[in-house]
Amino acid sequence: MLRVDQAGEYGATRIYAGQLAVLPRNCPEAKLIARMAAQEERHLKRFNALMAERRVRPTSLQPLWNVAGFALGAATALMSEKAALACTDAIESEIDKHYSEQLTELGDDDPELGRDISDFRADELEHRDAARNAGATTALGYPLLSAAIRAGCRVAIGLSKRF
Ligand SMILES: [Fe+2]
Ligand SMILES: [Fe+2]
Repeated sequence: MLRVDQAGEYGATRIYAGQLAVLPRNCPEAKLIARMAAQEERHLKRFNALMAERRVRPTSLQPLWNVAGFALGAATALMSEKAALACTDAIESEIDKHYSEQLTELGDDDPELGRDISDFRADELEHRDAARNAGATTALGYPLLSAAIRAGCRVAIGLSKRF
């Protein structure tokens, strides 16, 4: 669980880095994304610490998520500001599902990890709602874009679990 979660939070920081590299620095979308990116840093730091504490090795696919995350962020931001938000909307929808499934699976087994996951899940839901409120669904080609990113996110989760 920790391995896949750390991979996901790492990917999130790379996506936002890619978007912030492309978006004009003081457009409203960039300000929103910068705020969310800071929260992803907090999530990532916490999972990094837990992994070190519990001697969990990170996913061997980290170099791939480094590049793929940045590319996804940059590509969506190049499409439009709203497409960048649609990316957040899509990713956070999948992450919400992923964290919910983990919490069900955990039950009372690991209260420490469970607390972090539900704390972070609340942040991810906030990110999704903030992106929607800022117009994510008005992005050109939203249904297809969203479906494609969600599918990619599911593949990334599956791969990070295995490798
Ligand atoms: Fe996160
Ligand atoms: Fe997030």
